[in-house]
Amino acid sequence: MKIAVPKETREGERRVALAPESCKKLVAKGIQIAVQRGAGDSAFLTDDAFRAAGATIESDVDALLGGADFILTVQPPTPAEVARCREGALLLGSLLPIKNLDTIRALAERKITAFSTDCIPRTTRAQSMDTLSSMANIAGYKAVLIGANELSKYFPMFMTAAGTIFSAKVFIIGAGVAGLQAIATARRLGATVTATDTRRVVAEQIQSLGGKFVGVESEEDAQTASGYAKELSQDFYRKQSELIAQQCAASDVVITTALIGGVKAPKLITAEMVRKMQPGSVIVDLAAEAGGNCELTQPGRTVMESGVKVVGPLNLPAEMPRDASILYSRNLTVFLLEFWKDNQFHVDLEDEIIAGALVTHQGEIRHAAAKAALTSEGRA
Ligand code: NAI
Repeated sequence: MKIAVPKETREGERRVALAPESCKKLVAKGIQIAVQRGAGDSAFLTDDAFRAAGATIESDVDALLGGADFILTVQPPTPAEVARCREGALLLGSLLPIKNLDTIRALAERKITAFSTDCIPRTTRAQSMDTLSSMANIAGYKAVLIGANELSKYFPMFMTAAGTIFSAKVFIIGAGVAGLQAIATARRLGATVTATDTRRVVAEQIQSLGGKFVGVESEEDAQTASGYAKELSQDFYRKQSELIAQQCAASDVVITTALIGGVKAPKLITAEMVRKMQPGSVIVDLAAEAGGNCELTQPGRTVMESGVKVVGPLNLPAEMPRDASILYSRNLTVFLLEFWKDNQFHVDLEDEIIAGALVTHQGEIRHAAAKAALTSEGRA
């Protein structure tokens, strides 16, 4: 089998889908790897490192994509890139099907068997393939660094000859993978951390990282069987809004990571709440990609309101491209090797990981929501 690793073409993407250390593992299994010239350059993973790991370097993209049995990507390929792949090939990447319907349709038309890492079920068995967790971890860490960088104060408490500086107060909304990493990072930098979530099960996790849990007194709990948050009653959100307003007014840095079902960003911080924060405070809205948890967030930009900076970063893992690539690549490699038997990749439709991740197969769209969206547009 021949695997191709193209250079990512989406603006701002600096990661590469396979790192040399994973390349070496796959080559040891008898798999051929071809990497596009310079594919790892922006992640500081050089062509020489790929060569040393047993890969060949390919300059001609048509030859690379057209000659591959399996293509690994970070971002979804464009329909034009899909057209360059061999009909019937396999492809694995973070395809976010519902946001990339044109790509999904192109993959089905090209009869490509495509798997999306963000659709892999979040089970114990699949944990080491979970790119969502690996990348959310990076986003949570980076969000704190952005907050610290934008803040005009210290994070830690300092006792100096010129007197005492008190530690910064950081408030984290949403304690999933990104939020928990943000709590840990802010604590390591010496901040005082408070956090909230609608899933009460996380209270203990917040405390174990040195944060203080604050939540709404309620019988309602948002946790679904799959571990994600679900929508709650209007009464709950009204009470939560009061709590968030109080916490924002008392905090120097607010980091928001709240999503429902992993995709929808609830609006939790109003413009009015921002105006009641101390001038010089910072909001880092990690949900910016999904529209933002703050009413004022502009995805990809920083806006200033009443002296408060509202930062809406996009694709933070690409800001830490080396480790992001290495972790992403390890997730992909575990997936590949899980189904690698007798020198071939087995598309076992009975397996829950394959069934969950499979987006297109033999000309058919297998992702239910993407198929429904394309059908309603008359494009399926
Ligand atoms: P996510 O990115 O979907 O959401 C982030 C956080 O926002 C969640 O903790 C959610 O409860 C919270 N949230 C939603 N609405 C909110 C509101 N109004 N106020 C405050 N917080 C709100 O979540 P993520 O990070 O993808 O993970 C969620 C859970 O999924 C994990 O804690 C875990 O239980 C499960 N999971 C399981 C994995 C596995 O078993 N392989 C891997 C990763 C996650």
